[in-house]
Amino acid sequence: MQNILFYQEAFVSYLEKFVSKREPETLYNPIHYILELGGKRLRPVLTLMTAEIFNSDYNKALDAALSIEVFHNFSLVHDDIMDDAPLRRGKETVHEKWNINTGILSGDAMLILAYQLFENYNPETFQALAKLFSKTALEVCEGQQYDVDFETRDDVTIAEYLKMIEYKTAVLVGAAMQMGAIVAEANNEDQNTIYHFGKNLGIAFQLQDDYLDAFGDPKTFGKQVGGDIIENKKTYLYLKALEFSSEEDQIQLQHLFSINPKDASDKIEATKEIFITSGSAEATKQAIAMYTNKAFSVLESLHISEENKAALIQFGNQLMNRTV
Ligand code: IPE
Ligand code: IPE
Ligand code: MG
Ligand code: MG
Ligand code: MG
Repeated sequence: MQNILFYQEAFVSYLEKFVSKREPETLYNPIHYILELGGKRLRPVLTLMTAEIFNSDYNKALDAALSIEVFHNFSLVHDDIMDDAPLRRGKETVHEKWNINTGILSGDAMLILAYQLFENYNPETFQALAKLFSKTALEVCEGQQYDVDFETRDDVTIAEYLKMIEYKTAVLVGAAMQMGAIVAEANNEDQNTIYHFGKNLGIAFQLQDDYLDAFGDPKTFGKQVGGDIIENKKTYLYLKALEFSSEEDQIQLQHLFSINPKDASDKIEATKEIFITSGSAEATKQAIAMYTNKAFSVLESLHISEENKAALIQFGNQLMNRTV
C-alpha cells in the first residue's frame, strides 16, 4: 500500500492519456476542461487503494477508477446547471463557460464514456462493475431529484435529508470502494463491508460539503460560498437551525428561505448568523464526526491488515478536516 499522493499522481497520469484530442471539439473540449480542472480525486484514489488493500495491483483498478471519476465529473456538470452554480474548482462552470446545451450533451457523453471503460475488463468483472454502476448511477439521479424537490418544500425532515445525501453522494463513494474490491476479487462479505465503510464516509463527506458551502473560505473553497443558501437547499445546517431556534428565528429563517433576492449577500449573512447562534453549525460538525466514526466502526469486521485499516482511518480523518 502506497500513500494517498502516490495514488493521486498515478491516477492523474492515467487520466491524461485518456483525455486525447477528439472531434467534434465542441463536444469534447468541455469534457477535457472539467476533467483536467483538478479536484481532490477522492473517489478514484479510494478505488485504487481498495484494490491494493485486497491484495491486488492498483494498475488493474485504473479503468474502474477512471470510470468513477468521469461519472463524478459528469454529475458535477449537470449538478452545476441544476444548482445554477457559477464556479467549480475556482473556475467557471461548464455551462457558464459554454452554454447549457453544451453542458447537457457533454455531460451525457461523459456518462457513456464512464460505462465504456468497463469494456476493458473480462466478462465476469465487467458484469459485476456494470451492475453496481447502474444501481449507483440511478440512485444518484434519485438523490439529485430529492435535492431539487426539497428546495420548494418546507416540511423536509432530517431523515429525508439523510436519505437524499446517501443517494446523491454517499453511494458513489461506497461504489468507488466496492469497485476496487471487485477488481481485486474480494469475497462478497468484504465487498459489502467496504461499501458500507465508503457509504458512511460519504455521508460525512456531504455533511462537510454542506458545512463548507456556508462557512468555507471563498479564497480556497473553489465554489460560490453561500450557494446552498441562495438556492434554498434544505441542508442539515438549515434543518437543525429550525429545530434549535426560537420561534422568532424560525420564522425569520423560513422567510429567508422563501425569497430569492437579486443580491443575496444579506440573506446569506442573516442565515449564517442563525446557523451559528442556534447551534446548528456545531451540531453539523458533530454529525460529521459521528458518521466518520460510524465508518471506522464498520472497519472492525473487515478481513484486512491492521496497517491497511490504519491507512483508511487516516484517510477518513483527513477528509473530516478538509477545507475544500
Ligand atoms: C463535490 O465533490 C460534489 C459532492 C458530492 C459534494 P468533491 O468535493 O469530491 O469535488 P472535487 O472532485 O474534489 O472537485
Ligand atoms: C452534489 O451535491 C451531488 C452530485 C453532484 C451528485 P452538491 O450540489 O452539494 O455538490 P456541489 O456542492 O455543487 O459540489
Ligand atoms: Mg451543486
Ligand atoms: Mg446539487
Ligand atoms: Mg455542495
